[in-house]
Amino acid sequence: MSLFKVALPVLAVAGSAYAASCSNSATTTIQNGGDATAIAACTTYSGSVAVATGVTDDISFDGNLKTIDGDLVIEANSGIQRFGSSSLESISGKLTLNDVSQLAALSFPQLTEVDELTLKGLPNLRSLEFTKGITKADKLDIENTKLQDLAGIDLEEVSSIFIANNDDINSIEMKVTNITEFITLSFNNAEVNVSFPNLESANNISFRAIGSLSIPSLSKINSGSFGVFESDNLASLSAPNLTKIDGALVIDNNKGLKNVSFASLTDVGANLQIANNTNLHEIDGLPKLKNVQAALDMSGNFSKVETPSLDFVKGVFNLQSTGDIGTICTDFYDPLKSKGRLQKGKYVCEGKLDEASTAGSTPKSGSSSGDDKTGAAVGLAVPSISLGLVGLVAVLFL
Ligand SMILES: *[C@@H]1O[C@H](CO)[C@@H](O)[C@H](O)[C@H]1NC(C)=O
Ligand SMILES: *[C@@H]1O[C@H](CO)[C@@H](O)[C@H](O)[C@H]1NC(C)=O
Ligand SMILES: *[C@@H]1O[C@H](CO)[C@@H](O)[C@H](O)[C@H]1NC(C)=O
Ligand SMILES: *[C@@H]1O[C@H](CO)[C@@H](O)[C@H](O)[C@H]1NC(C)=O
Ligand SMILES: *[C@@H]1O[C@H](CO)[C@@H](O)[C@H](O)[C@H]1NC(C)=O
Ligand SMILES: *[C@@H]1O[C@H](CO)[C@@H](O)[C@H](O)[C@H]1NC(C)=O
Ligand SMILES: *[C@@H]1O[C@H](CO)[C@@H](O)[C@H](O)[C@H]1NC(C)=O
Repeated sequence: MSLFKVALPVLAVAGSAYAASCSNSATTTIQNGGDATAIAACTTYSGSVAVATGVTDDISFDGNLKTIDGDLVIEANSGIQRFGSSSLESISGKLTLNDVSQLAALSFPQLTEVDELTLKGLPNLRSLEFTKGITKADKLDIENTKLQDLAGIDLEEVSSIFIANNDDINSIEMKVTNITEFITLSFNNAEVNVSFPNLESANNISFRAIGSLSIPSLSKINSGSFGVFESDNLASLSAPNLTKIDGALVIDNNKGLKNVSFASLTDVGANLQIANNTNLHEIDGLPKLKNVQAALDMSGNFSKVETPSLDFVKGVFNLQSTGDIGTICTDFYDPLKSKGRLQKGKYVCEGKLDEASTAGSTPKSGSSSGDDKTGAAVGLAVPSISLGLVGLVAVLFL
């Protein structure tokens, strides 16, 4: 045995004696497994811990460590394969794993609380070993991983959730009741099953490319919008208990969507747009919709449109269908316009068109006549929603 090999443990012990102060106002940087073991000798470690980019050892904070009063961070490390702690229960700051390309195992069996959990750029991480389960995190951000599911992350309290570009996630399910900021799910597995059985309120909800959705308890969207986009595998969209959306409701570009049902919805605080849902032929799932505080903009291949409780649209009214919507324009929407409940100069209601477009476009008439051809195009700027809900808060009055 070389002297060098004998000397190493001595250095590790010296390191542990230093860390055993169990606090550091500066960030402690871990250079090897021994540094982690030294920190794990503390029950509570006060201070933030970062792992150096060049570390290739497995890093385990195994020992007495129950609490880190600070952050625990690994960024831009291409060597570590296993990371965890068998004893750690809570992290008062962030747990961040960002751009750790070889990481294949993340094991925190006792961990239940972190302030922010970020799992990003982990192309080799297929599962989590959060055995007890993380139930409290203020912010959750999971991007570009190979996770198959989120077993072990079942938040009860959270302010924001961002889960994007995880191609293999089969299901996203959490028991959270209120999300105080936003939830964005975007381009995960195109068949991902999304379920929030207890969710009562949220602010901005933006779902892109989801496969199914269950939100039976959702009753209110506070100060934000609700958008469902590009979900080609989503056959049915239902929010049975949702009564009020403070911002916009946008349902666009969902090619497989056949049924939209918001059975309790009465008020939409900004635009309500339904567009480019190729297989959505009946708009009959808004039985209680009464007030729309900006534009009501529905275009598609509809054979039936009814919003029997509608009483007021503050912005543009645009209903364009390539299908035959019967006499709904003359029977229902024209009289509503006459009563001043829809704006007169900003009104389009037509069926049997060659093309059905969103508000602001001139209806492209079909060859058949006898339809209710009402109104010309209203020259309004439709906000681009291709990037999500940004811009939709801008109200379409003109
Ligand atoms: C979602 O649930 C359905 C019905 O249970 C199932 O057939 C489908 O495979 C699930 N999706 C994924 C990605 O596992
Ligand atoms: C969750 O939101 C609902 C509806 O806004 C509210 O009635 C309830 O008190 C909230 N619950 C918690 C635990 O904050
Ligand atoms: C729907 O809302 C009502 C009234 O707020 C409530 O009593 C009921 O439990 C809710 N249903 C679900 C499934 O959450
Ligand atoms: C649409 O969905 C609602 C709610 O899930 C359901 O009650 C209704 O029967 C569905 N309609 C069709 C045509 O499938
Ligand atoms: C609908 O699809 C067309 C053609 O792909 C696209 O140009 C338009 O921007 C889409 N409209 C919306 C509201 O996404
Ligand atoms: C509208 O839908 C009907 C029924 O699915 C279909 O036959 C028709 O070709 C569609 N029209 C257009 C313009 O897509
Ligand atoms: C909702 O999203 C809009 C547009 O992206 C943003 O301006 C607003 O601050 C968000 N509101 C909340 C409560 O997150």
